[in-house]
Amino acid sequence: MPKNQILEKTFDMFWETDVPENELIISRTDLKGTITYANETFAKISGYSVDELIGKPHNIIRHPDMPKSIFENLWSTIKQGKKWEGYIKNLRKDKGYYWVKTEISGIYKNGKLIGYKSMRYKISDTQKRQMQNLYDKIREEEEGIVRLVIYTKKEVYEKLEELSKKLNKHPVEIVEEAILNFDYIKEG
Ligand SMILES: Cc1cc2nc3c(=O)[nH]c(=O)nc-3n(C[C@H](O)[C@H](O)[C@H](O)COP(=O)(O)O)c2cc1C
Repeated sequence: MPKNQILEKTFDMFWETDVPENELIISRTDLKGTITYANETFAKISGYSVDELIGKPHNIIRHPDMPKSIFENLWSTIKQGKKWEGYIKNLRKDKGYYWVKTEISGIYKNGKLIGYKSMRYKISDTQKRQMQNLYDKIREEEEGIVRLVIYTKKEVYEKLEELSKKLNKHPVEIVEEAILNFDYIKEG
């Protein structure tokens, strides 16, 4: 099952952390995207400590709402030694999120590309809403994935959890199978 499909019972995933107006989130990575430096603001906003961040792949803060193609574009741009600029929704350690405008460019030593550096800062609420809508659309068109928030009966949720454990399948997979197995759907 696609790893960007998730099931969360808690409200935490809808909890937004605001990036303060005059603070910059800074990180550096090696050529593979492993974090080699993180400033205190990065730690504070992402919910990790600086020590936890260093040595980890940068996708530790990848949010499931981010389309794959955005990162493909990011990597193909920076690998050519060009600067990449874009909007990123990041995942906090506690499953909450924060939006940033991001600039990534190369770090050079004696003319040789040895890693990447990034700077991120606050964006407006209007930009966040526009980007969320755009990324939802891209994910639907390019990956065929939509986000669905469900309010359901407690006993249904418990049955779903029970089935998930028993069949060793992700709850989302079970819901998908159940729907696709309806005779009405099968008959097309
Ligand atoms: C300097 C630098 C900064 C990055 N910053 C972020 C970031 O803030 N959030 C993010 O999800 N990915 C960031 N990335 C991209 C990740 O390395 C990774 O490609 C992305 O999270 C998608 O994960 P995946 O490549 O495993 O699919 C950054 C990469 C570099 C080189």
